[in-house]
Amino acid sequence: MTTPGPGDALFGNEDMAAEIDPDVPVESAGTVDVTQINPDLADPEAVAEAVATDRAIDTEIGEALLRTEDLTVRFGGLVALDAVSFEIRRGEILGLIGPNGAGKTTCFNAISGVYRPTSGTVYFDGKPLTKTKRNAITRLGIARTFQNIRLFSEMTALENVVVGTDARHRTSVFGAIFRTARHRREERDAITRGMALLEFVGIAPRAVEKAKNLSYGDQRRLEIARALATEPKLLCLDEPAAGFNPSEKASLMDLIRKIRDDGFTVLLIEHDMRLVMGVTDRIVVLEFGKKIAEGAPAEIRDNPAVIAAYLGVPDDVTA
Ligand SMILES: Nc1ncnc2c1ncn2[C@@H]1O[C@H](COP(=O)(O)OP(=O)(O)OP(=O)(O)O)[C@@H](O)[C@H]1O
Ligand SMILES: [Mg+2]
Repeated sequence: MTTPGPGDALFGNEDMAAEIDPDVPVESAGTVDVTQINPDLADPEAVAEAVATDRAIDTEIGEALLRTEDLTVRFGGLVALDAVSFEIRRGEILGLIGPNGAGKTTCFNAISGVYRPTSGTVYFDGKPLTKTKRNAITRLGIARTFQNIRLFSEMTALENVVVGTDARHRTSVFGAIFRTARHRREERDAITRGMALLEFVGIAPRAVEKAKNLSYGDQRRLEIARALATEPKLLCLDEPAAGFNPSEKASLMDLIRKIRDDGFTVLLIEHDMRLVMGVTDRIVVLEFGKKIAEGAPAEIRDNPAVIAAYLGVPDDVTA
């Protein structure tokens, strides 16, 4: 596993998959009383305010924040994504669903710069992302979590989040070495906001625990906090509820709604139809790399093409 370099944020590092083994707790740091650290953390409104981004977004609420135009990704002879066009409107939760191998993660990867599209274009907040490198895309405001959790396992929860903050607010190397006043202030702000983010996702008492010692569910929440730390204009979640039981899923839905209500726009990949129907404003359905349907949850639920695509898992369709 690698550690983040001075310049590049963790989001640019494909090799950072953490070797997390939650079954082996090591030197647990226990929990902390966060309100002793900062009494504001007891007030949900103050927390939500600290987490909300004041970043300028050109796109108006309800307009297309991200738009793909004939987005195509090929792997050799396989067309993983075939001329897919859709938009994510500012302020909404858009669900991206489809059976295994439908191209959902590939779509995320093409949007977030992990893969260069074979053809087609992604427009984000009014500008094409053609040739924009992954780190630059993070700085432009697209943050994501991964289908397989990626955290810095030896770092504490708080450190993992502060690293995310660094992806955006960074003084020069000079500032870091000589610890200029600006650098110290940025560091303090990052820690304050980091604690607010941990509280927002519900794991602040675990702030000083190493990521690898957190429960699986808390690791998923930490990933979301870290993505939010970059103050994204768009948050992309790739199956955040994978491996969750129904009550964990319900509480994750609440968190995703809370994130949207705090002013973020969310793209959600999810297999669980019940979760998707309950939380999204609109849904795009992929099958074999093609968009087969798009619409409000109720329309998608009754769409024959979608039902056919999901026939292998009828329980999910009728959920
Ligand atoms: N790096 C890659 N190289 C070759 N083929 C790939 C690569 N990534 C994905 N694929 C293939 O592209 C297709 C779409 O995969 P993708 O991971 O996007 O599906 P998905 O909808 O996210 O599926 P799941 O629900 O299982 O996560 C699959 O056939 C997959 O095997
Ligand atoms: Mg996937």
